[in-house]
Amino acid sequence: MSNHFITTPIKSDIQGLCACAQRLFLGCVACLFLHVAAMQASSLQSNDFHFLSDSHCMLRLMTNERFLLLPIEEREDMAHVKVIKNGQVVKEFNCRLSADKTDYYVPLSLREYGNELLLDITFNNTADRRTKSPMKDFACWNQLKTSDTFDTTNREKFRAAYHHTPLWGWMNDPNGMFYKDGVWHLYFQHNPYGSQWENMTWGHSTSTDLIHWTFEGEAVEPDALGTVFSGSSVVDHNNTAGFGAGAIVAMYTSAGRSQTQSLAYSTDGGKTFTKYEFNPVITSTVPDFRDPHIFWNKDINRWNLILAAGQQMNIYSSPNLKDWTYESSFGEGYGNHDGVWECPDLLRMPVSANTRLNNTDKSQATDAKTTKEKWVLICNINPGGPYGGSATQYFVGTFDGHKFVCEDSPEETKWMDWGKDHYATVTFDNAPDGRHVAMAWMSNWQYANTVPTQQYRSANSIARDLALFDYQGESYCSVKPSKETMAAFSTKPVTKLLAACRVDVELKGNTSIVLANSKGEQVTMTYNGTDETFSMDRSKSGDTSFSDAFSAVTKAPTRGRIKSLQIFIDHSSIEILDADGKMAMTNLVFPTEPYHKITVKGGKYKIYPLR
Ligand code: FRU
Repeated sequence: MSNHFITTPIKSDIQGLCACAQRLFLGCVACLFLHVAAMQASSLQSNDFHFLSDSHCMLRLMTNERFLLLPIEEREDMAHVKVIKNGQVVKEFNCRLSADKTDYYVPLSLREYGNELLLDITFNNTADRRTKSPMKDFACWNQLKTSDTFDTTNREKFRAAYHHTPLWGWMNDPNGMFYKDGVWHLYFQHNPYGSQWENMTWGHSTSTDLIHWTFEGEAVEPDALGTVFSGSSVVDHNNTAGFGAGAIVAMYTSAGRSQTQSLAYSTDGGKTFTKYEFNPVITSTVPDFRDPHIFWNKDINRWNLILAAGQQMNIYSSPNLKDWTYESSFGEGYGNHDGVWECPDLLRMPVSANTRLNNTDKSQATDAKTTKEKWVLICNINPGGPYGGSATQYFVGTFDGHKFVCEDSPEETKWMDWGKDHYATVTFDNAPDGRHVAMAWMSNWQYANTVPTQQYRSANSIARDLALFDYQGESYCSVKPSKETMAAFSTKPVTKLLAACRVDVELKGNTSIVLANSKGEQVTMTYNGTDETFSMDRSKSGDTSFSDAFSAVTKAPTRGRIKSLQIFIDHSSIEILDADGKMAMTNLVFPTEPYHKITVKGGKYKIYPLR
């Protein structure tokens, strides 16, 4: 029971492998908990509030309780909240305090500030809400509460059972992922004060199996340099930075007036971070200058860093993670440029003996021949995706620690996933056995803020292992479910389609797969063995009303014939992977009830439940 309440420190199980019925049951229990929580929470006294103008209020708080619960109304305009202690601003953020009705609460942790503080709240001056009713009549003032607990019991029917989701609030990109001592660490772009994009902070979750996640609290919070945008972490085994052997060193973008790169380090295995005192460590006049990805490069015995600079990727090197030397830029004239380049990664990949070396730079082509490896440069782009909005493209080539040389022809775009909901894909540092374990954010900037959930927004993809495969003399990035993902499923098939399950389909030439529910909502997937394509139609999949850009048919080349598919279904997402890794497609769906019926024509299927 206490698992669903946040007390202090913030830590709670995010999800278990619960079947649909259990989830509904939990939902009812949740109502009970909320009631209890509501009885425990204390409302504020009217003389605590000082309304100082039509847009400004001060609130003196004297409480021993741990949280101030802030009532949020998503359609409202932003209010700016400053937390003031002894005349100093100790925290500030934006949130949509309720004017008419409350959609949900978010917790402001008070424990770090002692039992007395001042809140300074300013409403956006352009809000027309106040012309209809004066600010002092807004619903939020009666609904603000102090409490020792914050209830995080799941209230959402679309919440995934085996994918990572934030306990509450908005999430976008995965950040700073690393593996150490049997634990996978996932940081993520989090808004702790609402379920829409704002107040970027690194939330932190951990897992030992990439399926069950525990929320560990906020790891890196905004400061005077800006909010905390995307970045990466490394395990500094040899203490090159001087923060200690095995320290976790994170680099992220400080998004202030300009975008600059900052460091933070952790000596307790990634739980708490200290910001480096000489931040920022890299600056630039380029406006979109962000998402640093660091990795150790044994060839030069130094760290490399790749980051997005407008429509290209900049590469740097460093002996100590603090002092960086610019090496080169990649991207002009290559691949898709219909949007901003973001969230890069650069991965060394072994090549099979028959991989063609089609390098324009002959000296590096020779190196690649002897080292039997190529590099894959991951470049997320928004907009510009194959079906609109966000997507992940990649380039194959060579890298000598200084310069990435692409072997693909400049006009070619290689997509890692052909669905609409696969973005900000990056890999874990220090993964076991030299594996490249990737995770994506399963959404699209076209509609991410309006998908039909409220307690939280967005999930991550399943963990996927990346490698190379050859097709018609070209190298492509293969995408396969990680063995940890596969281990989540029973090996005994069942007959009934479940809201959370895996469906394996053996394909025979042309195959169609239809998932449907009793409301007439359905998803149609088609493998065309003649064209060597796979497509998915979600136009009748359920609720598509929240965005005109959501309804779509996505189509992927399968790079030759494929034999079998693995379809990962989890309440509101469908990820289809060719078993040999040659095609991946990730799409969200919001059926008003789970699909319970599957029809496969021209193939055989088996349904595997979660263990
Ligand atoms: C990608 C992105 C990044 C940025 C972050 C901000 O989704 O735009 O480029 O760092 O989100 O939340």
